[in-house]
Amino acid sequence: MLILNKTAGVFFKPSKRKVYEFLRSFNFHPGTLFLHKIVLGIETSCDDTAAAVVDETGNVLGEAIHSQTEVHLKTGGIVPAVAQQLHRDNIQRIVQEALSASRISPSDLSAIATTIKPGLALSLGVGLSFSLQLVGQLKKPFIPIHHMEAHALTIRLTNKVEFPFLVLLISGGHCLLALVQGVSDFLLLGKSLDIAPGDMLDKVARRLSLIKHPECSTMSGGKAIEHLAKQGNRFHFDIKPPLHHAKNCDFSFTGLQQVTNKRIMKKEKEEGIEEGQVLSSAADIAATVQHTMACHIVKRTHRAILFCKQRDLLPQNNAVLVASGGVASNFYVRRALEILTNATQCTLLCPPPRLCTDNGIMIAWNGIERLRAGLGILHDIEGIRYEPKCPLGVDISKEVGEAAIKVPQLKMEI
Ligand code: KG4
Ligand code: ZN
Repeated sequence: MLILNKTAGVFFKPSKRKVYEFLRSFNFHPGTLFLHKIVLGIETSCDDTAAAVVDETGNVLGEAIHSQTEVHLKTGGIVPAVAQQLHRDNIQRIVQEALSASRISPSDLSAIATTIKPGLALSLGVGLSFSLQLVGQLKKPFIPIHHMEAHALTIRLTNKVEFPFLVLLISGGHCLLALVQGVSDFLLLGKSLDIAPGDMLDKVARRLSLIKHPECSTMSGGKAIEHLAKQGNRFHFDIKPPLHHAKNCDFSFTGLQQVTNKRIMKKEKEEGIEEGQVLSSAADIAATVQHTMACHIVKRTHRAILFCKQRDLLPQNNAVLVASGGVASNFYVRRALEILTNATQCTLLCPPPRLCTDNGIMIAWNGIERLRAGLGILHDIEGIRYEPKCPLGVDISKEVGEAAIKVPQLKMEI
């Protein structure tokens, strides 16, 4: 059931003529018989306009993406109105490219799946409005998608993974640990109390002016930090991991960002340079922040594994930990998580990096999962709204905190 959101804004409506022109641009093959279900997925929740066509067996028939990263790097962060305009400028082309690459006719689609929550209101509105027009023209069912559910289920497209499994979602806008018991059956174990790790890395990268670094000028903040950290010394200075004494699975990254900022200011003084220039010790700072972030993520995830095993929510052996979201494409974080899964007899699975960051494939696949399970397939689109804020699953984080599980120390030699 959809909750109507009072803050939902006015949709951007592509004109009817434009939609007809768009549909005419495909060659329709009326008698073509497709044995598999096929879903078109559309993603515009943040700063990537993405679409993909995926079939029931997980074949990606067509895909297209337009990244806004470089534009937002120049403005020093995502400006919602700019993101909205870029989605408007690109959505038709991206959907068209994904459909053309798939070589199917839009009439062969089983359904259209689109991210409607959570995310930036102005961005979500563009994808939803475009999708509803298309759904109306093609007379197809509509499947509203929760962005985090899609991140969590992507692994079932790339690997054979049965429910239940533990998922760690770490990105620019989100940070959570959840037990996935079914396609739309989640128990939320913990989340960030402030910003997400990707947001923290983006802020640190901006404060370090990495856009001016010749090797990182077009990289997202997180990617730039990972790249530079390889050349740095993580022992250069010491930062205490956040929430050290809180025996729950919540996260915090604001403190880490603030301590790092102070460190950068001190270094600027020592090196005699102004804010806006790149420090000679930028790589050391990147390595330290990345290491501290990884240790914090591992500690919270360790407690989640122990809690789930203690309550028999996960098997004692060979339980699966899935890590996804933009920050999970970081290989240092993956290696840190591997140390944890080796120590706890679990298996770590991560989608390939391009499926960790936002994409249309995960939305189309979530559509397939919901079609197969018969969940949330709408034939009447009246009253559908996007929801900028929307928690994932049933929140049991208080219970996790009350269990106060002590986590043994792991040697993080990465
Ligand atoms: O999942 P995503 O594409 O979008 C959100 O839903 O937020 O994640 C984007 C975030 C950005 O903050 C970016 O800096 C971060 O993921 N990121 C990385 C890496 N690549 C992207 N963080 C750490 N290491 C990376 N290699
Ligand atoms: Zn995402």
